[in-house]
Amino acid sequence: MTAFYSNYILEQQTVKSISVGFIVLVGVVLVKKVFQRKKYKLPPGPLPLPIVGNLLQIFRVKKRFHEHLLDISKQYGPVIWMKIGGWNTVFLNDINVIREALMKDYDFAGRPKFPSAMRITKGKDILFGDVSDVWKFHRKLAHSSIRSYASGKKLDDLVNRVVQNCCDLMLQEKKPFEMHTFCGLFVFNWLFGIIFGKEKDVKDPDFVNLKDLTQEALDAFASGSTADIFPVLDYLSFGENKLDKTINKLCRVLEREMNEHLETFDENNLRDIMDYMICAQKQVNLEERKELLSDEHVKMICFDMFGAGVDTVLSSLHWYFGLIIQHQNVQEKLHKEIDEKLGSLSPSIESRSKLVYTEASIMEQLRYGTLALLGVPLSTIRDTTVGGYDIPKDTMVLINIGGLHENNELWGDAENYRPERFIADDGTLIEKPRHFMPFGIGKRNCLGEVLAKNTLGTAIPAFLQRLNFLPPEDGQPFVAKNLGSSLANLCEKYKCRVEERH
Ligand code: HEM
Repeated sequence: MTAFYSNYILEQQTVKSISVGFIVLVGVVLVKKVFQRKKYKLPPGPLPLPIVGNLLQIFRVKKRFHEHLLDISKQYGPVIWMKIGGWNTVFLNDINVIREALMKDYDFAGRPKFPSAMRITKGKDILFGDVSDVWKFHRKLAHSSIRSYASGKKLDDLVNRVVQNCCDLMLQEKKPFEMHTFCGLFVFNWLFGIIFGKEKDVKDPDFVNLKDLTQEALDAFASGSTADIFPVLDYLSFGENKLDKTINKLCRVLEREMNEHLETFDENNLRDIMDYMICAQKQVNLEERKELLSDEHVKMICFDMFGAGVDTVLSSLHWYFGLIIQHQNVQEKLHKEIDEKLGSLSPSIESRSKLVYTEASIMEQLRYGTLALLGVPLSTIRDTTVGGYDIPKDTMVLINIGGLHENNELWGDAENYRPERFIADDGTLIEKPRHFMPFGIGKRNCLGEVLAKNTLGTAIPAFLQRLNFLPPEDGQPFVAKNLGSSLANLCEKYKCRVEERH
């Protein structure tokens, strides 16, 4: 009885202490909030709930999120504040505030430290790395390596070879096939060539292994983790998860490639992006190398290019072919332009300027099928301002690119795929509109922009010079559909046929 009584008292005291603790915690959070509100003139936004913030409201939204943001910006204005799990978040919804923020030195150029990204890269890469002198050096180096590679004959030859291989394989298909598989074959072979200087047979075990591992890592990463929304939970996770295992396997492949490259390196014959990096490594002294450009850094930069290059170019090609199968009138115009301007000459980076309609059709795909609807999350590296509001340091910043690209006030008929919107009355390409930014703008804009544009601008005419792209059955209506995801604008998988043109 006494034991029961003392247990009872103990339990009562524990409950009391927990309740007091909870009340104090809530009090501290509220007081902090009031002070934060007082100290800063924060932007307006829907009222957050304790702990989850605005997460439940976001899940309840019926429309795609970038469209919802445009709707509520009529009430709150173009700068909207929300709390997403553990993150203070600001959404920028019109071109003026977007440009104001992204052109403001490095204020908005940080990246949130998502636990899953940190596990992969340990902050040593470009995509997830925070602004620092080392990061600036890596970005500059990667930029000049990509530019040197992406503007030469090496890229022309690689793209044309890989396209012809893909065309041969498509022509061997007896039945309608999944276009996604062939876009994947193109992209992996192309990136393999650019980064590691290798073109592999699609059945080569090394090729299949790296392709599967990259896809696994991208899928695992895209599905995200609860700790990315509530970073505090990362302290509670132990051991190696599925993403860690995949990344470790990928790192071993990268290590093997790096060792092979180091053994066969010749500074007079830089074969690929990895060689460009090793060349830069040899130009810094051994002491600096550890801090500035270690082997780990080189591997992570190459890893970034795979990560950032695969899904983006794959998705663009997949959308593109879906759209021209749906719009056979556009495909006819493309064939006509390519036949008239190129004849049997292989497309090249140089020939892009002659193929105005083809270029316009690619720009229109990048608008219509905007991949990163809310960009890649940014964060503020210091207290700053935008649109007349204060934005504290370490706020996550999301740019509503989808909202810009689908806004009828800006495009008139944004829901239509219409390449002509990018062509001026005199038949030349129009100057790039300010509100068209598929590659982002500012200090964090896409590092692969030139490479992606040169690749799409060469590969697409090369495919079309040789093939007709057709729906799975004649006379069947064919629509390239959006998967309906809130963050990534992917085209639903579809089947198609091809026939040789000449
Ligand atoms: C159609 C193809 C592509 C599209 C639409 C695209 C789009 C984007 C966008 C929207 C961003 C974020 C910009 C920002 O945060 O403000 C980005 C960043 C980036 N992209 Fe691309 N990208 C494409 C292809 C590529 C390719 C082929 C590569 C490399 C081989 C690449 C490498 C990167 C890297 C490294 C970053 C991070 C830059 C940084 O954080 O400083 N991208 N891209």
